[in-house]
Amino acid sequence: MKHSAGALLSSIKLDRNSAKGVGVQLFMALREVILSGVLKPGDRLPATRILARELGVSRTTAIDAIERLVTEGMLVSKVGSGTFVSDALAAQRPASSGPAPVASHRQPRLSSNVTHAATAYARRSWLPHDARAFITALPALDAFPVTHWARLSARHLRRARSTVMGYGEPNGFRALRRAIATHLSALKGIRCHEDQIYVTSGAQHGFTLIGQMLLNPGDRVWMENPGASGARNVFLAQGAELVPVDVDEEGMVVADGLAKSPQFRLAFVTPTHQQPLGHLMSLPRRFELLRAAEQAQGVVIEDDYDGEFHFDSAPQPALYSTDTAGRVIYVGTFSKSLFPALRVGFILVPERMIPAFDQTFSAWVSGPPTGTQAMIADFMDEGHFATHIRLMRRLYKARYEALADAAALLPDTVQLQATRSGFHTVAFLPPSINALEVVGQAAEKGVILAPLSRYCLAPIERNGLVLGFGSATPEGLRQGIETLRGLSALV
Ligand SMILES: Cc1ncc(COP(=O)(O)O)c(C=O)c1O
Repeated sequence: MKHSAGALLSSIKLDRNSAKGVGVQLFMALREVILSGVLKPGDRLPATRILARELGVSRTTAIDAIERLVTEGMLVSKVGSGTFVSDALAAQRPASSGPAPVASHRQPRLSSNVTHAATAYARRSWLPHDARAFITALPALDAFPVTHWARLSARHLRRARSTVMGYGEPNGFRALRRAIATHLSALKGIRCHEDQIYVTSGAQHGFTLIGQMLLNPGDRVWMENPGASGARNVFLAQGAELVPVDVDEEGMVVADGLAKSPQFRLAFVTPTHQQPLGHLMSLPRRFELLRAAEQAQGVVIEDDYDGEFHFDSAPQPALYSTDTAGRVIYVGTFSKSLFPALRVGFILVPERMIPAFDQTFSAWVSGPPTGTQAMIADFMDEGHFATHIRLMRRLYKARYEALADAAALLPDTVQLQATRSGFHTVAFLPPSINALEVVGQAAEKGVILAPLSRYCLAPIERNGLVLGFGSATPEGLRQGIETLRGLSALV
């Protein structure tokens, strides 16, 4: 007992400047010495009077910590003889002898789909968290109305408990689905109703669900090349065979897809703002794609990830609205229009697909927290969403103009592509410049760039960098360009 008490007392360090109170620290430290084996089953703890004196805490604090551990079953109190580490813990501890433990670095056995796909995954370790030049895919977090959002949050926590605390409707909170249908009609003239909308934990979750419902291993999926890397990874993991289809100023080159594989189960496109080149898919191409899908009996996924942010023209029409055969599934997200940490997106399906999606969602899908969905619904219904979008259009336009003005100072080797929507664009480079070297040199100076090759499923002739301008301030963008001007790899 003397030995273990000494070991116990020397291993407990309490920090009086910590945000955690000393009582909580003492409880956690005691739990740690028990679980790590410093104190063994049957060891007696020092009396609370001694513990309190040695550690410089009040006796009440020491008693509270001990009582919590008794309640958890780690300690037992025996009247008249003291407090002991519970014998029950002996059974939970791994034996000190016996067969050698399995090496913790050994990989688990992965499914054949994932094993096969892993070699072809696009790297996404650069997922953006930090608002700075030239992070892609991150909206203007600095301009989000946080105070208003906090008020909405408080209101929803006080709501009827069953509304926000129970299991929500599998398809998503009805008021949100209704608000999304209204928004799609106002924004893009899409005619739809709430029963065609399925709320998901982001667009990426939507792609995963659609793939799970429609793909068999080996099925062909047409992917824009360059194109969206997250969607690509999802379909690879589901065992699909991806067909890289060329992209030009009119969007996906359907003739290239037909030449490579007229049969396909899914085609994935970003018609409003091609990811990452930024082109709008032309009407002839849209009809070609719908005809190809009809012939292949395939389905088209329309990813409209930032369709709200056109700077001055009318909103771009959805491919969904051109489709009369019920072959297009439209996927939207609040990651750009609000913020990505919400993890809320949605799927809009043609009428004929409702029974299949209803069945899947009610069988095993769970979406984002109901409280979050209810907050977004109120934000939309009360007009704040439309206001926010309008403000953000102006803000992104100003940020783009700041970028374009500053980029004029870059060497002639860099050709910034003009854009009228979204919050990223491409800077094209001649083949003589090594984009990866530029990315590496910029990263050393704290500036984040994405090479165009990162979006490519198969090599393309064009060389360049994708520059996000949504999350950084005009000053931050100017400083970013100033940093790029000094890079030896850019000349
Ligand atoms: C092409 C594309 N689609 C959709 C999304 C949004 O995905 P999520 O809604 O899962 O955040 C992104 C995010 O960057 C994207 O780049």
